[in-house]
Amino acid sequence: MKADPAPQPRILALASGSGSNLQALIDASRERGFPGQIVAVGCNRPGAFALERAAQANLQTFVVDHTRYDSREDFDATLMAEILRHHPDLIVLAGFMRILTTDFVRAFRGKLLNVHPSLLPRYTGLNTHQRALDAGDTTHGVSIHFVTEELDGGPVIAQAEVSVASNDDAESLAEKVQAKEHVLYPIVVRWFCEGRIQLGANCVLFDGDPLTTPMRLPDN
Ligand code: GRF
Repeated sequence: MKADPAPQPRILALASGSGSNLQALIDASRERGFPGQIVAVGCNRPGAFALERAAQANLQTFVVDHTRYDSREDFDATLMAEILRHHPDLIVLAGFMRILTTDFVRAFRGKLLNVHPSLLPRYTGLNTHQRALDAGDTTHGVSIHFVTEELDGGPVIAQAEVSVASNDDAESLAEKVQAKEHVLYPIVVRWFCEGRIQLGANCVLFDGDPLTTPMRLPDN
């Protein structure tokens, strides 16, 4: 008798907006041999296009509308309960625009990934493209990192660079960076599902060894 195949890691995505990163993950997860399955998509905005993308892909969805909660703690507690119903092995923040409480982050330590539109540690927080332009940077990019208690401060797994052209504005730069996000995030999620990356004491372990510099997707 043939043994049942090992169950695939269960991925839960959280989004707030357009969900283009979610779409990239959905597309990747449909490829033959992808080592994980998206089991649900959660959203804090009832009208977010990400929900439509999830429904199109026949994925389970849930909404926890942050405007209905008096405190961040109450919102996160409800979000956590919704997430736990799906028993995820990995939670992917795909444009999820809420700051998470320490309790939430600790509960899912080592299982939470985020995509941030800058070459961390540069430009944590918002308006990263304009800030890179204002600083006169010639390179900019995206980082995928483990989420820890420090906002946008968790160990970086991988980065991809883009060149800043003299005629770039925040919008054109965002477009370039997003194109890289859509390639890089599925790669990192694949590594996670294959068991290749883990969160160590305060570093990323890649194939069991501490990563001294983030993995890089070449600029082209
Ligand atoms: C992305 O640019 C990501 O870097 C940031 O939020 C944006 C989400 O875009 N965290 P989308 O919803 O995936 O299209």
